[in-house]
Amino acid sequence: MPSWIAALAATAALVQPHVQNGLNNNTLASVRTRLLQTANHSWELGTAAQALTEFSWPSLSVFNASAFPPPAQLNATNNASDVLAIARKVVAEKPADSLPLFANEGSAADPASVGVAVLLANWTRSDLSDNSYAAAAQGQLVYLLEQAPKTAEGAISHRNEQVQLWADFVYMVPPFIAYYGALQGGKAAEDLLQEAYDQCRLYRDGLRDEGGLWRHIALGDWQDATHWGTGNAWAAAGMLRVLSTIDHSKQARLFVEQRQNLTNWIQEILVASWSHQAPNGTLFNVIDDPSTFADTSSTALLAAVTYRMAQISRNATLVPFANKALKLIEDSIDEDGWLANTVDPLTFNTPSKPGEHSPEGQAFVLLLHAAWRSYKNFLESLTN
Ligand SMILES: *[C@@H]1O[C@H](CO)[C@@H](O)[C@H](O)[C@H]1NC(C)=O
Ligand SMILES: *[C@@H]1O[C@H](CO)[C@@H](O)[C@H](O)[C@H]1NC(C)=O
Ligand SMILES: *[C@@H]1O[C@H](CO)[C@@H](O)[C@H](O)[C@H]1NC(C)=O
Ligand SMILES: *[C@@H]1O[C@H](CO)[C@@H](O)[C@H](O)[C@H]1NC(C)=O
Ligand SMILES: *[C@@H]1O[C@H](CO)[C@@H](O)[C@H](O)[C@H]1NC(C)=O
Ligand SMILES: *[C@@H]1O[C@H](CO)[C@@H](O)[C@H](O)[C@H]1NC(C)=O
Ligand SMILES: *[C@@H]1O[C@H](CO)[C@@H](O)[C@H](O)[C@H]1NC(C)=O
Ligand SMILES: *[C@@H]1O[C@H](CO)[C@@H](O)[C@H](O)[C@H]1NC(C)=O
Ligand SMILES: *[C@@H]1O[C@H](CO)[C@@H](O)[C@H](O)[C@H]1NC(C)=O
Repeated sequence: MPSWIAALAATAALVQPHVQNGLNNNTLASVRTRLLQTANHSWELGTAAQALTEFSWPSLSVFNASAFPPPAQLNATNNASDVLAIARKVVAEKPADSLPLFANEGSAADPASVGVAVLLANWTRSDLSDNSYAAAAQGQLVYLLEQAPKTAEGAISHRNEQVQLWADFVYMVPPFIAYYGALQGGKAAEDLLQEAYDQCRLYRDGLRDEGGLWRHIALGDWQDATHWGTGNAWAAAGMLRVLSTIDHSKQARLFVEQRQNLTNWIQEILVASWSHQAPNGTLFNVIDDPSTFADTSSTALLAAVTYRMAQISRNATLVPFANKALKLIEDSIDEDGWLANTVDPLTFNTPSKPGEHSPEGQAFVLLLHAAWRSYKNFLESLTN
């Protein structure tokens, strides 16, 4: 097929599906407030920092072609103040003798989720003699590469007391390693972008089942072989951040095959997940087990990944699933800004108890909105 016909066909396919209306600003402001009130665990703070970046400071996120390098100075309107506040607090509270950004966590991976915010704080700091952010980020990287337990193939463990692979790892670690590399440039960038890719590849090798969904936890002294919704969402969303980091780095042209693989691996999770979507738009906590409960957290994050991938791949095939999911999420946010019907992020297999909420679920709503908004702007740019 001549390339111009293919291009036209792709554009038609893109414009075709109706874009769902987005969430309203008052709702989003409440969702954000509740997120800031409740995010406290390391991975919740890291996920919150990423969500706030995409939601309020999109020019600084890895989804923007201008991501590398970020501006050396932020100004009064583009200040990333909420993101930098998380980095500041975490670095200030880190004991001097801890290489990870949080001391004594059972997880070897979760503390690194705040690393991108710490690197941004370093890059944009006004006091150039302040080395604290750079030192903290470097310590976290050294811990991951040199001290955390690893499999024989080189997958860094999600846990620090034994070698164990969790799908969650893919959102916590590879995006940090990739961002670190893209900021360094040169040979360090090549090595670290490759390392981030390799961790995604090794985790997929360790967790993927036939059919494309990933198990939640493998190796070590206990496992969770179910296709946990949030686990699959962490994996897809983490690979997506690595893909966009590589795409927008100066080294992008050296990683053609890796980028194609990441694209395929993300799509594989999306296609398998949406094939189990319920008529009202939800996914189930165990994606392929409708006898488990409906879970809005994984539904929101997988919908976010779907809008981003539609834009990156110029392929809108899965957008109708995301539109349905967005409608369900909209209907699941109460007047105080809490996302209802989430999985309890600490048990993995029970719904949040009445009166309890999911900080990560709150962040996923902002990630979904940011992805939807970017996709909508992209469609509008095609027709203008
Ligand atoms: C919502 O907020 C965005 C960004 O701040 C703004 O562009 C948009 O006009 C707002 N929408 C409404 C309906 O106020
Ligand atoms: C937040 O985390 C810190 C450190 O892990 C802990 O000491 C504190 O109790 C937590 N606060 C809440 C409200 O959970
Ligand atoms: C990317 O950042 C530039 C400014 O650096 C801005 O003009 C543009 O709107 C941003 N795009 C997105 C999708 O945020
Ligand atoms: C702040 O920085 C952003 C992007 O870096 C730029 O678009 C904007 O014009 C700046 N605003 C002011 C008031 O300088
Ligand atoms: C940061 O920017 C936001 C929105 O542009 C603004 O409301 C806030 O006052 C700024 N904060 C600082 C410390 O400049
Ligand atoms: C910290 O920022 C400086 C620019 O001010 C940069 O040269 C350095 O590489 C950064 N450190 C890290 C670890 O990113
Ligand atoms: C890309 O994926 C294919 C199939 O899984 C694999 O054979 C190949 O080695 C991968 N390429 C790289 C650069 O990892
Ligand atoms: C959506 O459908 C599922 C399965 O049919 C059901 O369990 C769930 O409660 C529904 N969610 C809402 C918000 O109605
Ligand atoms: C678009 O994406 C769908 C779902 O991933 C895939 O089956 C299809 O082959 C893709 N189309 C093109 C033209 O790449």
